Amino acid sequence: MKILAFAASSSTKSINKKLVAYAGKLFVEQHNTAKVEIIDINDYEMPLFSTDREDELGHPQQAIDFIDKIKGSDALIISFAEHNGSYTAAYKNLFDWASRIDVKVFQNKPSLFLSTSTGQGGAGSVLKSAETSAPFFGADLKVTLSIPSFEDDFDRTNNQLTNAELKQKLNDALFKLRM
Ligand SMILES: Cc1cc2nc3c(=O)[nH]c(=O)nc-3n(C[C@H](O)[C@H](O)[C@H](O)COP(=O)(O)O)c2cc1C
Repeated sequence: MKILAFAASSSTKSINKKLVAYAGKLFVEQHNTAKVEIIDINDYEMPLFSTDREDELGHPQQAIDFIDKIKGSDALIISFAEHNGSYTAAYKNLFDWASRIDVKVFQNKPSLFLSTSTGQGGAGSVLKSAETSAPFFGADLKVTLSIPSFEDDFDRTNNQLTNAELKQKLNDALFKLRM
């Protein structure tokens, strides 16, 4: 099983990148033949989407490559960062470009959507948006999980959740991705 994993954040210090990397590691612990590829959405940066730019540029190679990455995977783990209650601009831009190639961006892949933030809300608002819209964009969404107050429960030295209950919830969510 080939998992494609990424954080919907362009920050080099992204906590969602840390979470998605940890989730990938736990998935491999559950299924030792699984391969997890983690991509950085910074590698798919494009001009700010508009239909004018689209007329000018067509489908940029980065958008084609992103769609192809998803196509080549068996399942997806995405961790959403929340900016002002919604997607980060970097992710939304990539998503808009990708959706012009195939509106079913997620291509019916079994998916786990995560989110985390430094606050108690755990980026629950963006996670809800991603969950609600998932069927329109072809995500076979198996489960979602929000991790609140990331800094309180994640050990940055050993890159792991220290809260046993949250770790169990994440393991349960990853197990559902497999089914
Ligand atoms: C412009 C901006 C807006 C933010 N808005 C929210 C928000 O609406 N809800 C929230 O929980 N955190 C918000 N935050 C805090 C982020 O959750 C925090 O920066 C987190 O580290 C972002 O995830 P990332 O590190 O994976 O990029 C905001 C941060 C920035 C810079």
